[in-house]
Amino acid sequence: MPATELTISLQSAANVLKLGGLVALPTETVYGLGANALDARAVARIFAAKERPFFDPLIVHLADVSWWPRVVLDFPPVAELLAKHFWPGPLTLVLPKVAAIPDIVTSGMPSVAIRVPDHDLTREILRRADVPVAAPSANPFGRLSPTTAEHVRQQLGDRVDLILDGGPCRVGVESTILELHGDEVVCLRPGGVPLEAIESLIGPVGRITPRDSDEQRPAAPGMLASHYAPRTKLMIVEDLPAAPPTSRTGLLILQPSDRTRGYAQVEVLSRDGDLIEAASNFFQALHRLDQAGLDTILATPFPETGLGRALNDRLKRAAH
Ligand code: TXA
Ligand code: MG
Repeated sequence: MPATELTISLQSAANVLKLGGLVALPTETVYGLGANALDARAVARIFAAKERPFFDPLIVHLADVSWWPRVVLDFPPVAELLAKHFWPGPLTLVLPKVAAIPDIVTSGMPSVAIRVPDHDLTREILRRADVPVAAPSANPFGRLSPTTAEHVRQQLGDRVDLILDGGPCRVGVESTILELHGDEVVCLRPGGVPLEAIESLIGPVGRITPRDSDEQRPAAPGMLASHYAPRTKLMIVEDLPAAPPTSRTGLLILQPSDRTRGYAQVEVLSRDGDLIEAASNFFQALHRLDQAGLDTILATPFPETGLGRALNDRLKRAAH
């Protein structure tokens, strides 16, 4: 896109946000469905467009760490340290909110989830709109996350005022979410920043796993066992069977394998088994499998290190 046209799109997106509209925004993790976080009516439109239950709170996006006083009461030293290392980037911090953040954003909780996304276009829109922007992933509730503008168009097209196409998402899985209580840090969702990187900076962090949650009573808001799910039935298998169970079975694997004969479609996430590359391909591969008219998708688990944790988390919930 020529520079002037891009500037016009960025300004339009900022204007739509200021006027209470919905804009699908690219981030480094997944596309977000954004609205002015200080405008409860605008945020209500996000829940309507996604058919998202009100008990699932939203992440608020900031142009810069300097915006924290607009959204949270305090930014403790551990938050400073984490922000210095990982912002802009795929890390979300949950901290006590200011009164200006409406309850609909936080599902009535006294704390709000915030992050600075690592995407130049979206940060420019945030600066131009000059408001914090609440944005969940831009997909219908519970379905596969969108990592291209086309995914958003297919899943939510007519429910969004504007979609800004910033290309495919670089990281490809959602942000890591940390809840901060003074010095105590708990990981609510593994994501784009590996836990190893966080722990090497601030020491051990507590964990909540989806196993602690159930459909009725999630251990943390939004920690539902079923989420990020394709329409096609997905099963996790430790080892690939000698032959696919049906003639319409698809396969999602980390690396090339010699046991893929007979599958209707095979998605290999990384030639060399690189987990960062795999994460960037993960949702796109699942979208392709889900659109291939299969009756089953088999997937093998990832090594439980680095981004493998976030991938296993998404896989388990897609299989639930
Ligand atoms: O990478 C990402 O995080 C993407 C992009 C768009 O930034 N966003 C995203 O949003 O994944 P979403 O709505 O799919 O996930 C939001 C989750 C909630 O389900 C909940 O688990 C957690 O963030 N969350 C939000 N606010 C919270 C709060 N106040 N306390 C605890 N958890 C919160
Ligand atoms: Mg989501």
